[in-house]
Order: sequence, then C-alpha cells, then structure tokens
Amino acid sequence: MTSFVRARFLALAFLAVVLSCIVGPFAKPVHATAPRVVEITAKRFAFSPDTITLHKGETVILRLKSEDVTHGFFIRALKLDEDIPPGTTSDFTVTPTTAGIFTTICDHFCGANHGNMKMTIVVE
Ligand code: CUA
Repeated sequence: MTSFVRARFLALAFLAVVLSCIVGPFAKPVHATAPRVVEITAKRFAFSPDTITLHKGETVILRLKSEDVTHGFFIRALKLDEDIPPGTTSDFTVTPTTAGIFTTICDHFCGANHGNMKMTIVVE
C-alpha cells in the first residue's frame, strides 16, 4: 500500500466513523419494531391484570406465568389454549384479527374456585 492509498483509506475510514456518529443517534432503534410484551400472571383463582386491551392487527407477545400451580389459558378468539406451569414463563405471539370483548378462562383444574378463574381481553 502506498502512503497515498493508505492516506485515502484512513480518510475514508475517518469519514465513515464521523458519519455514523452523526447519523447513529437518529437511526431507528432495532427494538422499535419488536412486538409489545403483555405480562399476565396466574394465581389461584385470578389472572393479573384481570383485563388487558389489545389492538386489532397489532402483534403482541403474551408473557404468561403462574405463581402457584398449573393454570390454563383458553381464549378461542386468539386461538390460544395453553397450560401455564409454575416456575416458568411462556411467551405466545398473537395478532388479534377481530375486535370485541373476549373472556379468557382457566381450563386446567387448579382448585376449588377454578370455575370462576377468568379474565377479559378487549380488542379494539
Ligand atoms: Cu386456574 Cu383453573
């Protein structure tokens, strides 16, 4: 490499660094396109929060966990029927296609009041 070529290379490299410093802060952060995460905790005999709101066409990650025993998470509108075992976190990616107010039920027997364990998912 001649010293002229090396000088040109260094000048270009310097320019690239300067440009990336100028443009970098304005570039869209990568996580801007990541789906929103909605955390839901199951515990005898309720879900927390007991109501969440999703948006039609918006992809979200439902992050489910249980604080005691295995619960179920069944919502026909989102085509989800999952068990939520304790001690682990399960992610389910959903994209609601229909607006409405839907009831999610626990469909895994978890004790005396299992039949009343439900939550509401609003899709608007
Ligand atoms: Cu919780 Cu059944």
